[in-house]
Amino acid sequence: MRARDRILVTGGCGYVGSHFARAAHDAGSKVIVLDDFSAGTQPKLPTDVEIVRGDIADRTLVPRLLRDQRITAIAHFAGKIQVGESVQKPRLYFDGNLVKSLALLDSVLDSEVRTFLFSSTAAVYGMPDEVPIPETARTQPINPYGASKLALEHALDAYGVAHGLRWAALRYFNAAGAHSDGSLREGHEPETHLLPLVIDAALGRRPPLTVFGTDYPTADGTCIRDYVHVEDLASAHLAALDALDAGKPVAATNLGSASGFSVREVLDTAARVLGKPVPHTFGARRPGDPAVLLASNARAKEVLGWRPVRSDLATIIEDAARARM
Ligand code: UFG
Repeated sequence: MRARDRILVTGGCGYVGSHFARAAHDAGSKVIVLDDFSAGTQPKLPTDVEIVRGDIADRTLVPRLLRDQRITAIAHFAGKIQVGESVQKPRLYFDGNLVKSLALLDSVLDSEVRTFLFSSTAAVYGMPDEVPIPETARTQPINPYGASKLALEHALDAYGVAHGLRWAALRYFNAAGAHSDGSLREGHEPETHLLPLVIDAALGRRPPLTVFGTDYPTADGTCIRDYVHVEDLASAHLAALDALDAGKPVAATNLGSASGFSVREVLDTAARVLGKPVPHTFGARRPGDPAVLLASNARAKEVLGWRPVRSDLATIIEDAARARM
């Protein structure tokens, strides 16, 4: 059996999880989604993807799924994702992202499954000392969201040593875009991410976008981010399963395009791609935003043999817009 044969995808109704579920299905895996529907989205997944409603911390349901579905790997996407909310309600984040994930890992370690992918984040780095950021950079999250994700990475590392768990913590930079056939999309509620807000503002479905800060130490004064296409994220997870099968220690690995765009560049590119201006105003900085976040993706290239193929900004915006039309 290969790790990718029968995958339990937690959070498979969410944004990145649904794209992974679709990619794994299309690549021939049997996919079972476990989701509590708390994100409120019902993605259009192929009908032979089984969707089970439940809690990742359910110590009856999860062991039963692992056994009855003969699961060969877990891809764990379920979790809370809003940085601002994590500052206001840290208990939600330490409970949802850490305590529940530890219960999931207990179920895994009590089973025969030993391959585990974890959806981690560039937020583990906090305010980076250097860019592009290598995985060896200091991890010092500046919000409970990043702290909760980093804590689980530490648990995975220890469980790898003590229990032979084969794991990968894939640290996403700015996940963006949508499935190229338009069937899946980014749909958070409330939506706080730049690209959906930009596209909806251009389409007249939301108020003008506020650019958060124009006095950053960047060429045009706005923040620079590394946008990586959600389909490229999905393919990296499949590559990670194969790398773990081959005995490679994937561990914490950045997933980014290694190219950065400022908020103004995003607005300009979106206006060009969409053929419409993006209504916007300029406002104050948003607390906690680093000026520049840019990945080194050398490790992903080397260990996973991964290359982002849809992560140029125009393609990301085209795909995201198609899925929102
Ligand atoms: N931005 C605006 N106006 C908006 C929304 C965003 O100017 O209305 C700017 C932000 O200030 C930032 C950039 O657009 O400079 C991107 O912001 P997003 O909210 O889309 O994404 P973040 O970079 O804040 O956060 C993303 C993920 C987090 C993850 C983080 C990693 O959403 O989950 O990257 O550092 F933690």
